[in-house]
Amino acid sequence: MKFFIDTANLDQIKEARDLGVLDGVTTNPSLMAKEGITGKDNILKHYKQICDLIDGDVSAEVIATDFEGMIKEGEELAELHEQIVVKVPMIKEGIKAIKYFSDNGIRTNCTLVFSAGQALLAAKAGATYVSPFIGRLDDISTDGLNLIAEIRLIYDNYGFETEILAASVRHTMHVIECAKLGADVMTGPLSSIEGLLKHPLTDIGLEKFLADYKKGNS
Ligand code: E4P
Repeated sequence: MKFFIDTANLDQIKEARDLGVLDGVTTNPSLMAKEGITGKDNILKHYKQICDLIDGDVSAEVIATDFEGMIKEGEELAELHEQIVVKVPMIKEGIKAIKYFSDNGIRTNCTLVFSAGQALLAAKAGATYVSPFIGRLDDISTDGLNLIAEIRLIYDNYGFETEILAASVRHTMHVIECAKLGADVMTGPLSSIEGLLKHPLTDIGLEKFLADYKKGNS
């Protein structure tokens, strides 16, 4: 399972990278705004900085919602760096754009996916990644993890190569459940990755080992 971090914060990206388990980064317009990154030039510069920080895919989202606009923006993003994956929303024009990008060797991440039907369509169009938003489904009392299971089944039935990128991951249990269900990738905050480290018995055990060592070596 690949681990992506879902942020545009460079310090958090570095921290996850330094752990040695980071495979990529996802961003979205809200995450860029949260870091105060505005204006086309600054946004492109920021994507480039993220690509220079890590080895791995970096999802950069188009803002246009019409086919021509998405193609123009997507081609510009893809040219920026070989690690860029163009993030395209799950709308009619988006599906057409994903098909175009796929036919032209540009990798895509189909975002804002909330149903198995949408995921099927994204795979048919040739998306590199499909991003089901599990946390947002949970937020409205729907089972986000069930969507991961449905998409896994459908993709395996037909051998679709589109990777399931579990998105809107909010916590460590989401990561573990997505791994059990066979998601190819998960993207979440730094806390969802670092949370995997924690177990009280590890802390108690280490404390005892160090105390016993000290007794015998003082
Ligand atoms: C995915 O690529 C999105 O950026 C993200 O996972 C959305 O997460 P949120 O629902 O926590 O905003």
